[in-house]
Amino acid sequence: MFPECVDVHGKRFCRVITAEEVASRVREMAERMNRELRDKNPLFLAVLNGSFFFAADLMRHLDFLCEISFVKLASYQGTSSVGRIRELIGLNESLRGRFVVILEDIVDSGLTITYLQEKLAEYSPEEVRVATLLLKREALQRPVEIDYVGFEVPNIFLLGYGLDYDQLGRNLPGIYALSESDNASS
Ligand code: IMP
Ligand code: MG
Repeated sequence: MFPECVDVHGKRFCRVITAEEVASRVREMAERMNRELRDKNPLFLAVLNGSFFFAADLMRHLDFLCEISFVKLASYQGTSSVGRIRELIGLNESLRGRFVVILEDIVDSGLTITYLQEKLAEYSPEEVRVATLLLKREALQRPVEIDYVGFEVPNIFLLGYGLDYDQLGRNLPGIYALSESDNASS
């Protein structure tokens, strides 16, 4: 069992959402999808790495047949001032005419999800919905419509249940937040 607070790379994180609370919210999200998506033949697209727990736990509660696939965003520094250049990798399925549900661990600035929505639109899906376990609404840099939100969370760096801090902490069973003194100094 993990204690209530853990130190990762010299920073302190303390639990803000328990594993039980996450599990029960994920089940509720799945139950809503069972009602709304049953007849849509949806293709779930989980965004790696962070969404692997969320995707797996959510899928376990879906009671109709559906597909899941995994994509990843590779990012690297561009040489121009345009900044971060990203590339969507791992998309093998044809999205034409499909009902797609993106599964994200967390939406922060909203830039990633906006990029994904624009990218997927190029493949002519019927509809693209977004489900995220966590939403930092205050951090959004642009309006983003999220169809399924697990928890709205404050604009603090979070860890656990798939989320990492420099690759560590993904296996923490609940959600942990950077403790306030550390958050202010970073
Ligand atoms: P956005 O593009 O700013 O919305 O950020 C999206 C991605 O940044 C997420 O899918 C995460 O991988 C990462 N991220 C954002 N906030 C956090 C956090 O609090 N902890 C860990 N990763 C985060
Ligand atoms: Mg992510």
